[in-house]
Amino acid sequence: MGNLTYDFSGQTAIITGAARGIGLEIGRFFAEAGADTVLIDFDENELDIASDQVGAKGIAADVSNTESVDKAIADVMATTGRVDILVNNAGILRDKVLWKISDEDWDAVLGVHAGGTFRLTRACVPHFRQQEFGRVINVTSYTGLHGNTGQANYATAKAGIIGFTKTAAKELARFGVTVNAISPNAETRMVSSIPPDKLAEIAAGIPMGRFAHPSEMAAAIGFLASREAGYITGAVLPVDGGLSM
Ligand SMILES: NC(=O)c1ccc[n+]([C@@H]2O[C@H](COP(=O)([O-])OP(=O)(O)OC[C@H]3O[C@@H](n4cnc5c(N)ncnc54)[C@H](O)[C@@H]3O)[C@@H](O)[C@H]2O)c1
Repeated sequence: MGNLTYDFSGQTAIITGAARGIGLEIGRFFAEAGADTVLIDFDENELDIASDQVGAKGIAADVSNTESVDKAIADVMATTGRVDILVNNAGILRDKVLWKISDEDWDAVLGVHAGGTFRLTRACVPHFRQQEFGRVINVTSYTGLHGNTGQANYATAKAGIIGFTKTAAKELARFGVTVNAISPNAETRMVSSIPPDKLAEIAAGIPMGRFAHPSEMAAAIGFLASREAGYITGAVLPVDGGLSM
């Protein structure tokens, strides 16, 4: 995706879950826009390929693990000396009707989405405060706002991310840090795991009549990460072709 609008040179952008899908396109966007870009993912093989492709630094880390997250942020600080932009995008699905969800599948989904968002943000706050600047963009979902059959764990995690976003926005505003969320809808491997009949049903309900290319999510995130968007905080921006209207 050509990017002439924003210049993030001199800034460090961290994107989690960036080995593929939406995260990879967000990483590509920031790298093209001149940021020192760091891709975080727990899939080491795909991460290596993605980092080479995008021209970014790859750090293998598990966002559901505090030690792993804290080490990753220390590594970023040792490399670029700053953290300006954090995109909490890593995600997993463990879909089942609620009465069939195991404790393990419940904890795993909450631990990656809500837990990962919390852990990364917490680890970055001291640096944001010192810089008196920061941009956090979290990735929530239509499901977090409206629920979805088979996704009680995911809906809980994504709704939790909205509450977290607004709370963090209130707590961090005085330090020059904005915290926002996008609610995406893009054609990725995560979407391809949805059964075809269900997928067709969803596409038919999107006013735009199609799923987005993941790069279309990056454009919205770039805007929220820009200095120009400094008065926007605690917002949840649907980037979903009108699905949630
Ligand atoms: N694709 C959509 O339409 C859509 C819709 C709503 C929300 N989302 C959200 O957007 C985000 C990205 O979705 P996607 O479709 O690109 O998914 P994806 O499955 O293609 O990519 C998710 C990435 O996160 C990584 N990841 C998972 N658990 C991790 C962990 N513990 N630590 C580090 N990395 C981890 C995976 O390895 C993968 O590279 C997710 O949060 C998802 O819930 C996507």
